[in-house]
Amino acid sequence: MNPPDPRWYKDAVLYEIPVKSFYDSNGDGIGDLPGLVQKLDYLKDLGVDCLWLLPFYQSPLKDDGYDISDYYRIHPDLGTLEDFDRLIEEAHRRELRVIADLVLNHVSDQHPWFQEARADPASPRRPWFVWSDTDRKYAGTRIIFLDSERSNWTWDPVAKQYFWHRFYSHQPDLNYDHPPVREAMKEVIRFWLRRGLDGFRCDAVPYLFEAEGTSSENLPATHAYLKELRRMVDSEFPNRVLLAEANQWPSDVKAYFGEEDEFHMAFNFPLMPRIFIALAKESALPIRELVAQTLPIPASCAWGVFLRNHDELTLEMVTDEERDFMYHEYAKHPKMRLNLGIRRRLAPLVDDDRRVMELLHGLLLSLPGVPILYYGDELGMGDNIYLGDRAGVRTPMQWSPDRNAGFSRADPEQLYAPVIINPNFHFESRNVESLRRMPPSFLNWLIRQLRVRRRYSKVFGRGTIEFIDTPHPKVLIYRRSFEGTELLCLFNLARAPSAVELDLSGFRGYTPVEMVSEAPFPPIGELPYFLTLAERGFYWFRLDPPAASRPDDGPR
Ligand code: NOJ
Repeated sequence: MNPPDPRWYKDAVLYEIPVKSFYDSNGDGIGDLPGLVQKLDYLKDLGVDCLWLLPFYQSPLKDDGYDISDYYRIHPDLGTLEDFDRLIEEAHRRELRVIADLVLNHVSDQHPWFQEARADPASPRRPWFVWSDTDRKYAGTRIIFLDSERSNWTWDPVAKQYFWHRFYSHQPDLNYDHPPVREAMKEVIRFWLRRGLDGFRCDAVPYLFEAEGTSSENLPATHAYLKELRRMVDSEFPNRVLLAEANQWPSDVKAYFGEEDEFHMAFNFPLMPRIFIALAKESALPIRELVAQTLPIPASCAWGVFLRNHDELTLEMVTDEERDFMYHEYAKHPKMRLNLGIRRRLAPLVDDDRRVMELLHGLLLSLPGVPILYYGDELGMGDNIYLGDRAGVRTPMQWSPDRNAGFSRADPEQLYAPVIINPNFHFESRNVESLRRMPPSFLNWLIRQLRVRRRYSKVFGRGTIEFIDTPHPKVLIYRRSFEGTELLCLFNLARAPSAVELDLSGFRGYTPVEMVSEAPFPPIGELPYFLTLAERGFYWFRLDPPAASRPDDGPR
């Protein structure tokens, strides 16, 4: 890959892919690695830089692969190690990077480590897991999968002890107090990075260690171990990236950056629900407040900004009042809810409102950090709330109006999940081929927007942000600046048009140039700058200095 800038991730756009959902190359109804290779040109064309693959390892698939039974093998439904190597090679040939999920906290109860551990109290594997004779220990620890689990302890009749698990009861937590576990996971990391992977999205990192009298989250021992991993990766595998999944309050997530010695990136979990709250309340404040709380971060670090992912839209890190509000606004049907969250895709969440889809992506692509797109959201793909757990947001990718949305040549009933046929989101019109043919489609709009973002990826990815005050509470305005390039982004969260007067006195003589069309607006003069925005409308402007006010001369 060229050039090997160690901070490449800061300028990137990520794209999240469950391999089984993307493209089925062998007609068995399940997407696979060779299928993904066939679709790399699409992803390149879309304009993303790095793929994040959901777990593809050997697994009984009771948690869609987050229940690993062999870290060194690929699930046979998804391909082989050779297929993986080919994917890396083909992706890199196209200047696409690839990161994969690394599940550190737990394994499947089918994993031989657990099978050996439970079978014999004297087994050297026994201390690899967290056992107890009572289910009372670590009582201060919350339960995450509230809809399915009643305790973090499950009685194992074979071991004749309880074992500890933060997620499903078929996912025993590894015991990180036990040094061989810590070393074993380093070996897993080495194995995949040696094969050319560009990094990991590290699952559930706050929960590695537990301690009595605490919440067993974000413990100092956990941070210490994560720093150890970072040291190892930096010294043995330059230019890789580690992305933390730490669903925590702002100050607790920020801690995962350490002093540039822990994670390069962390998902901005606290920001995501505030974007939806801001939209429903037609108020700029929730976003402003959250961005202020999540900045600054160390220079080499970056937030991963996202709207949706493969899980429920989590509402763990909001107040009770905010959660009630979100349920009321976005999950009226009980089937739309799961645990403390909402199991819907982006387009259905916003009633397929095109303006809102654009507004949200305008924000996603311009807020500080690395935007992360979820497969299919670029099509405005629908969901299926009648499928269990989170399966409704993981249905087959829609490629064409053909059988199975062009995802697979299997019989429709053989697909791992049905394609979306709800009339409002039917795959016959909502698919890559049809949308690419229609110039004003959302997909084409997003491709254009991503191209514009790419030209300014340094400003958006590395630049500063400064909010601009306006008396209008429904309009969010910020400046993004980097090495002399000045961008001005305005978002009208209101359901009605808005007019704003801006104090841009520091930019007298500059010309705002709308960045998609390159259309120049009137230069900034003595008086407050007056702008109108359509309902849910947004603008990205480049502020060209007086000497270069003709669009062709402006900084790029
Ligand atoms: C977080 C993952 O995103 C989710 O899909 C999974 O169920 C849990 N970790 C448990 O592994």
